[in-house]
Amino acid sequence: CGIVGYVGDKQAQDVIIDGLRRLEYRGYDSAGIALVDTAQGSGSIASDKRAGKLANLEKSIAESALPPATTGIGHTRWATHGAPNDENAHPHLGKDRRVAVVHNGILENFAALRAGLEATGHEMASETDTEVAAHLLEIEVQTGADLTVAMQRVCQRLEGAFTLVAVDAQDSSRVVAARRNSPLVVGLGEGENFIGSDVSAFIQHTRDALELGQDTIVTITSDSVEVTAFDGTPAEGKPYHVDWDLSAAEKDGFDWFMRKEIFEQPRAVADALLGRHTESGALQLDEVRISEQELRDIDKIIIVACGTSCYAAMVAKYAIEHWTRIPCEVELSHEFRYRDPILTRQTLVVAISQSGETADTLMAIRYAREQRSKVLAICNTNGSTIPRESDAVIYTHAGPEIGVASTKGFVTQLIACYLLGLYLAQVRGTKFGDEIAAVVDDLARMPEHVQAVLDRADEVYAIAAQHAATRSVLFLGRHAGFPIALEGALKLKELAYIHAEGFAAGELKHGPIALIEEGLPVFCVVPPRGRDELHQKMVSAIQEIRARGAHTIVLAEEGDESIAPYADVLIRLPRVPTLLQPVVAVVPLQLFACELATQMGHDVDQPRNLAKSVTVE
Ligand code: G6P
Repeated sequence: CGIVGYVGDKQAQDVIIDGLRRLEYRGYDSAGIALVDTAQGSGSIASDKRAGKLANLEKSIAESALPPATTGIGHTRWATHGAPNDENAHPHLGKDRRVAVVHNGILENFAALRAGLEATGHEMASETDTEVAAHLLEIEVQTGADLTVAMQRVCQRLEGAFTLVAVDAQDSSRVVAARRNSPLVVGLGEGENFIGSDVSAFIQHTRDALELGQDTIVTITSDSVEVTAFDGTPAEGKPYHVDWDLSAAEKDGFDWFMRKEIFEQPRAVADALLGRHTESGALQLDEVRISEQELRDIDKIIIVACGTSCYAAMVAKYAIEHWTRIPCEVELSHEFRYRDPILTRQTLVVAISQSGETADTLMAIRYAREQRSKVLAICNTNGSTIPRESDAVIYTHAGPEIGVASTKGFVTQLIACYLLGLYLAQVRGTKFGDEIAAVVDDLARMPEHVQAVLDRADEVYAIAAQHAATRSVLFLGRHAGFPIALEGALKLKELAYIHAEGFAAGELKHGPIALIEEGLPVFCVVPPRGRDELHQKMVSAIQEIRARGAHTIVLAEEGDESIAPYADVLIRLPRVPTLLQPVVAVVPLQLFACELATQMGHDVDQPRNLAKSVTVE
């Protein structure tokens, strides 16, 4: 969910709606706003909330205007408790409409709290867990406590992961927020202050932000920010400056953020590599706060991640094992901790997360640290929870990724994984300096290779146009191309809502080949010819499916003529080493999914049922 809070001298409604628009990628099945209206002398809460996208809320506000106000909160929701309808949308109000609350996360003990409230005459207007918090806060302020103290008292009774932001109708000077395991940052302005799920909520007003620790409560007024622990003892946030600006959060003339982000990949890859190696090619990853001796002692790596990030992890396994000879496992974060994994002090757990907030991955690293394993995060979001709780971090420097389907986030994760593998090889001496320097050289050329693929985007768009009525697409790959087949399929599921599956090409004959029928589109990622045995086997697989009627869309490197007779459509990739091919091979698949979904009339940036950052388990 996306959360905004504001106190200052501007119209809170404008600031909040703008902030919500930028946060909408976090969840968009309903949206709402609450303002502290001081016009009547003793204040009241003016609020509006609507199911559906933010546009529905804006339309409603345009029809029946909210009063002017300079204090307020807003929310854009990704439903957990209760269907995404008007009643369940946030904000939620207390019984006497004095306190309004927005919430991200899950209050695990809400059923018991709700039963207690109902027993004392509180009627609930929604099915949400959040409404309980509104009632509890209101009871506290009605006893004379200020909203900050009320929040402290209530938070001590709540279980689960949550961010709560509240306003009190009788005190327009403050907005109070609480954070436990769920994202929240403060924006520091002049004569105004902000609260947001992330900095894009307020980036057009200020680039000075305050990171909040777990289990803290923050009270903002127009000229102060006060942080405490849940028990009221003073605490501190960590100030930082945001190094990207508003234009990075805007579409720059593209129809979708996703398409813009696909085209930003050459720059993103270059930024991910920036400053990571010396002139001579030696790796330097200064964010790695694990000693070289500890890295030499590692005897196993486990990479945990979800969704697209997990496909980056699968590619990483090929590279890391090849370069370092350290056994490397990949596991979905949500499966990992529940199967009693074998972790020791010599295990390095690598967590890959674009957002740094994915609850499943966060819980996985907490578990790993409890078992005394070292945790290294690969993350795109500075100051987010996963890197904060890790022993080391490699930031991917892709810049803000707004499109829900990850693109530049993914390719920069690949780069970070390669850098990690090479760094470990360097520290452990499993590769010579000149071997590492040669790969670093190859990496340095990746931005131009990615650009070369993008320069031929129109060819991919033409393929998408031909398949606008397709209901099923398969993807085949081998070796490092296998995760790319999975990622290509995931992109289509996410954006085009059609059946799409990725397979390891060698597995085809063990079952999936039964799916092949006349005209079925099958994308085939062909390994570079450098690995002859792989290449030849892939060519055979393509022959087999074509003989059974598949429509083959083949991604193969420039100059690879052996494949031409079996390709109904050929997409040329630049010549790169096998292990690095995923960086270029994924790009046409991203373009295809983006364009096909556009042709089908879907909302590419906000696909149905999905959220960019899933902060609940
Ligand atoms: C969500 C998004 C996916 C993303 C996954 C992992 O499910 O919709 O696109 O790959 O989370 O996100 P992370 O931020 O941890 O990389």
